Amino acid sequence: MGVILLLSGPNLNLLGEREPEIYGRVTLDELVREAAEVAEAHGYALEHHQSNHEGELVDAVQAARGRCAAVVINPGALTHYSFALADALATFEGVKIELHLSNPSAREAWRRTSVVAPVVTGTVAGLGSHGYRLGIEAAVALLEDRG
Ligand code: DQA
Repeated sequence: MGVILLLSGPNLNLLGEREPEIYGRVTLDELVREAAEVAEAHGYALEHHQSNHEGELVDAVQAARGRCAAVVINPGALTHYSFALADALATFEGVKIELHLSNPSAREAWRRTSVVAPVVTGTVAGLGSHGYRLGIEAAVALLEDRG
């Protein structure tokens, strides 16, 4: 069975209680459960890893090389400045989806730059808690395109 790796960056462990007016009240556990159901319905296994540490996410992307079909990643604030994470994602040959609950382009100026955007296949942003399900759907659709 193909594996889709879902990665969640810094502070996403606090979803549900963190700035709910921006990120909603759904917890990360709930989002991951829904994402796993969607992946499994399409014949993929979902692995999830959340970390507040850049290096751990770099390690997780490296460990996905040659093993996972797709990486769906919400890098949190690392989106905006982690060249290490961008470099790691550039080495991953599978489908790569950048995921955000909010729409960073409509927020503070520092959120309008994504250093990972140039190395991912595509981005799902601004769709709130629907984004996790849709991010997995997008990865599956692109994997099917690849055949
Ligand atoms: C986020 C947007 C980032 O700017 C922010 O730092 C996050 C969450 C989102 O899902 O909307 O931690 O990635």
